[in-house]
Amino acid sequence: MCGIMGYAGGSPASGIIIEGLARQEYRGYDSAGIALRSDGKIISAKIVGRVSELADKVRELPSKCLESASGIGHTRWATHGGVTETNAHPHESADEMVVLVHNGIIENSTEIKDELESGGIIFSTQTDTEAACQLLAVLYGQCGGDALEAMHRLTERLTGAFALVIMFRDRPGEIWCARRGSPLVTAWDGSASYCASDPTALLSYTHDLCFLEEDEMARLSPDGLKFYGFDGNARGKKSIRLNWDSVMADKGHYEHFMRKEMGEQPDVLRLTVDAHTIVTNVALEKSISLPKGLMKKIRRVQFVACGTSYYATLVARDIMESLDGDIEIRVETASEYRYRNVRGGGDTLAVFVSQSGETADTLAAARIARAKGTHCIAITNVRGSTIDREVEHTILSLAGPEIGVAATKTFMGQISLLALLVMHLLKERGTLSASDEARLISGLRSMPALQQSVLEKEREIKALADKYCGSKGFFFIGRRECVPLTMEGALKMKEIAYLPSEAYAAGEMKHGPIAMLDEQLTVVALVPDTDLREKTLSNVAECRARKAPTLMLASDGDDGARACADDIIFIPRTEPELFPFIGVIPLQLLAYHTAKALGRDIDMPRNLAKSVTVE
Ligand code: G6P
Repeated sequence: MCGIMGYAGGSPASGIIIEGLARQEYRGYDSAGIALRSDGKIISAKIVGRVSELADKVRELPSKCLESASGIGHTRWATHGGVTETNAHPHESADEMVVLVHNGIIENSTEIKDELESGGIIFSTQTDTEAACQLLAVLYGQCGGDALEAMHRLTERLTGAFALVIMFRDRPGEIWCARRGSPLVTAWDGSASYCASDPTALLSYTHDLCFLEEDEMARLSPDGLKFYGFDGNARGKKSIRLNWDSVMADKGHYEHFMRKEMGEQPDVLRLTVDAHTIVTNVALEKSISLPKGLMKKIRRVQFVACGTSYYATLVARDIMESLDGDIEIRVETASEYRYRNVRGGGDTLAVFVSQSGETADTLAAARIARAKGTHCIAITNVRGSTIDREVEHTILSLAGPEIGVAATKTFMGQISLLALLVMHLLKERGTLSASDEARLISGLRSMPALQQSVLEKEREIKALADKYCGSKGFFFIGRRECVPLTMEGALKMKEIAYLPSEAYAAGEMKHGPIAMLDEQLTVVALVPDTDLREKTLSNVAECRARKAPTLMLASDGDDGARACADDIIFIPRTEPELFPFIGVIPLQLLAYHTAKALGRDIDMPRNLAKSVTVE
């Protein structure tokens, strides 16, 4: 959701904050703002638009502001209150004592606002955040300027989710933070303190990061960091070293992060397989130490996630099911899982998959599962993220930072790890045959080269995108292991090209959706050469008979498929279960080049945010 950056040090803060916001812009990008100090006052600048426009506005601020050695900034994804300059953060209390930025939703903001307004305080925005700001100013006054006590009282009053970063007018060089439900990471590099929503914003300064826990506060100053519970008691905290390279979060020579990240997928897969396998065996026990004998007792496995991560779990389900038909597997979006009466307990293993490790629904689902006594594992890309800290076992995905809002390489990181996890679990359970293990591991080992060959088909796929970008919409169809990819292909097309796109199990088309087909709706059919090839080709023929232009993904050498579609992309053959590893790449490229042909904002598509930390 929103991106926050704070700095308290000895250098001019404005550039550091703008840079930090730019690195987090994918979290939200409808408006942005910054607060800096000048002559004993706090001065804010805000804009509706992108961080680059904020940078232009900051350059026009008085020179004292530009020398300010502390400040806070925010890039917004609106929840409460329209996208206006007034509603953009930072917000300032009526007495100008408190200036703050916020990520999350203050659920009791109306109640607080009514109370303060009846006391004569005038509100000037439609945001929930302003209630926290005005209330903190009142509490600060009541506490005689004791910031810690005022923060303690504020956090006692607020309900909902918040990461708050605060400046007090009479406390130069100090920044205060509080976290409940929304992520916040802090760091000290020996001469300056920083805070941000996302670790990638801090990697240019230090790799040693202190993630705030739930209900924790921090005081930032040039001298270091101090941590407190919401009760006001001081706490110790160890930093976590994040071995990400800040260059990984740079666009390099690419036009878009998404394109760069798609190209990194063979490396992500190679890295993951190298880290967790030995020759033809999975070696995941090094990174996941489940209690001995647990898998023999497990009767059901649940996979839970949101968005693209959810589609990754569908891939895991299919692989698991193909190897062991006896285990009960459930796959659920986290936003549903949390409100259903899902069975849990000591005979259940739940795997939560979240790139960010901060998705509100996934965290809530994991808490519910834990409360039922379910064994919980997380797969996340971010060490130190909330899910990492809350579940029994975490397996870190090795995709590195992903900046494009549309997930690509993190999907690859997830399905790679999930495939290995599934094999590991079934091995522990005694149901993975040595031949299946060797077959799949060698399939995964040879995959990066095959993926590279598909990436090299970019010109061909771009030409198809140019041909079909005028379609009124797309239908992605396929069977069994292709179904999760139909969903991911359609999601990518919706997310970045904004074109209506449906995903359907090919056999289901005739039960309704086929009525929609005509010459303006393009069918993308996934037809690898498996035992289901003929059946899927029949479904494609049914679509073509309704005049739908058809673009097919088929296996190299399947010359017979050529006559069955208007256009065809041939991709290398793989083990059937591993088709998603290769099939996803042309779908990503197709969506990317369609979006490009339509002039869309590919890395920051409208209305979306990369990390959804509100429900
Ligand atoms: C957002 C992003 C998606 C992502 C989903 C789940 O909707 O735009 O790309 O798949 O959240 O995020 P997570 O961090 O939990 O994987």
